[in-house]
Amino acid sequence: DKANYRHFMAKEIHEQPEVIGQTLAHYVDIANESVALPQELPFNFNEIGHISITACGTAGYAGHIAKYWFERLARLPVELDVASEFRYREAPMRKGDLAVFISQSGETADTLAALRYAKSQGLHTLSIVNVQSSTIARESGTVLQTLAGPEIGVASTKAFTCQLVVLAALAVAAGKARGELSESDEIDLVRALIEIPRLVTAALASEPQIEKLARDIAKSRDVLYLGRGTSFPLALEGALKLKEISYIHAAGYAAGELKHGPIALVDESVPVIVIAPCDRLFEKTISNMQEVAARGGKIILITDASGAAEVSKDALATIVLPKMGTTFTPIVYAIPVQLLAYHTASLMGTDVDQPRNLAKSVTVE
Ligand code: F6R
Repeated sequence: DKANYRHFMAKEIHEQPEVIGQTLAHYVDIANESVALPQELPFNFNEIGHISITACGTAGYAGHIAKYWFERLARLPVELDVASEFRYREAPMRKGDLAVFISQSGETADTLAALRYAKSQGLHTLSIVNVQSSTIARESGTVLQTLAGPEIGVASTKAFTCQLVVLAALAVAAGKARGELSESDEIDLVRALIEIPRLVTAALASEPQIEKLARDIAKSRDVLYLGRGTSFPLALEGALKLKEISYIHAAGYAAGELKHGPIALVDESVPVIVIAPCDRLFEKTISNMQEVAARGGKIILITDASGAAEVSKDALATIVLPKMGTTFTPIVYAIPVQLLAYHTASLMGTDVDQPRNLAKSVTVE
């Protein structure tokens, strides 16, 4: 049931404050401002040397964001793979390390094959799934569930942000177990997580502005997405979301890679979505944005009020999100990125919930 929405995707985007809140309540102790995983883990983060994270598509981008979190909060090196490559690469793996798999459906053939390979190599396996009764859940050593509820739209939205919430809680748990985070660090991080449903609600208020911007995007042939740090995988996710439902070609890049090739694409006809929360990489991203502006690129900047005050003049439009701590920004910045794809596709009249050639659950390789 689509409630009062035109598409399941719109409904699922709007459900995010609620389902993120539900997922969060499952992984943190809100009253104590501490991480509280629903079950004890059968391994000790202190004894893990590396994490390997494997998934496909949007779930893979959630893993890519989590790589930054595990490395920064727990000083744990993370190797990230798309499952279709990992399964055939015969990567050397160390027995006793941790392999993490992320899947909304829990049935993705490549991710399942990757899980079986990691198990055969003697790794601890942990899966983050939305469908508790799925094959990946059944075969994993540890299952952490996202409480996103059924996701019907083929383009993943609420499952993605709920995956990020679980990964964030897990990274904080790892940092704590490894003595990299103090008790007060943990409190600060958990407080930041608890704020997210409210921030997501505030981000949803940018929808009327985004609907207008989508008219311009809908006329484009190519769209670029740029970001640094955790905004880089979110740029990849933004580009995937736009192309899969609007069929407009889009590509995401690490902002620093721009001058190594993609800037050649920029002219007055190319919208460039710049994802730049006010974090320690803000100035760097902005200097890349100014290179785009100098070549006539049509910039849509996504930032907060202080970022906007500093640099809005270079942008055609600025989507202003609420001010927040810097660690978990992708969970909130995902909202305008999803809305931009949704409204562009919806204006173009494509089949938003069932885009051509795609299936919700990819059970064949
Ligand atoms: C994109 C999308 C896909 C899935 C991918 C993995 O919007 O939904 O890229 O993320 O097919 O699916 P799951 O998470 O079910 O393994």
